[in-house]
Amino acid sequence: MKKENKIEEFIHFFEQTIKYPQLTGAVLPSSKNLTKLITEKSNLKNVETIIELGPGSGVFTKSILGKIKKDTTFFVIEINKSFVEKLRDDFSELKIFHDSAENIKKCLKDLNLKTCDRIISGIPWTALDTKTQNKIIEEIYDSLSPNGLFVTFSYFPFNYLPQGKSFKKILEKYFSKVKESEIVSNIPPAFVYVCKK
Ligand SMILES: C[S@@+](CC[C@H](N)C(=O)[O-])C[C@H]1O[C@@H](n2cnc3c(N)ncnc32)[C@H](O)[C@@H]1O
Repeated sequence: MKKENKIEEFIHFFEQTIKYPQLTGAVLPSSKNLTKLITEKSNLKNVETIIELGPGSGVFTKSILGKIKKDTTFFVIEINKSFVEKLRDDFSELKIFHDSAENIKKCLKDLNLKTCDRIISGIPWTALDTKTQNKIIEEIYDSLSPNGLFVTFSYFPFNYLPQGKSFKKILEKYFSKVKESEIVSNIPPAFVYVCKK
């Protein structure tokens, strides 16, 4: 793993926000507090398979790699080629799919896998229309093992906008339990959803 230069990372991230505002959905990578919260809530000890969606510049990725067993299968799916190139440079041993989260099952199949235990997502849900939100959540649900967890975040107060509300409704439609965390400092402030299959 390469040593990070935070300023370069922030500039690169911001450039992607300007180029692809809908896909990037934030002006900066997630904060340390949000990274800590999302990885702790994911309860990563002793899991066999983990997928991260929308890793961006890799802040969650780095933390996940620091918490998992050596033999855990971990891969990421990122839609933006420029982030994919950065991730390949920084995490040379990591399996990285340059693809959309709409194709999780295809990525699992490529690795001869059917399901996974955890899916951690950085996708900017409130920037997506309801149809796309539903399509990706269905793909996530189908890809999780019976006791699997889906862990994601939402920006406050965007969760009160129509797209934030529709996202929560979709989570509640698919998952047996949907728990919200406290709000932590981030730009913008954010909280975590922990969803049990
Ligand atoms: C808000 S950024 C989060 C980046 C990083 N996880 C973080 O927390 O700093 C959203 C990320 O999701 C990616 N993304 C958006 N839609 C996606 C999709 N359908 N499939 C995979 N990645 C996607 C974007 O390219 C970007 O890297």
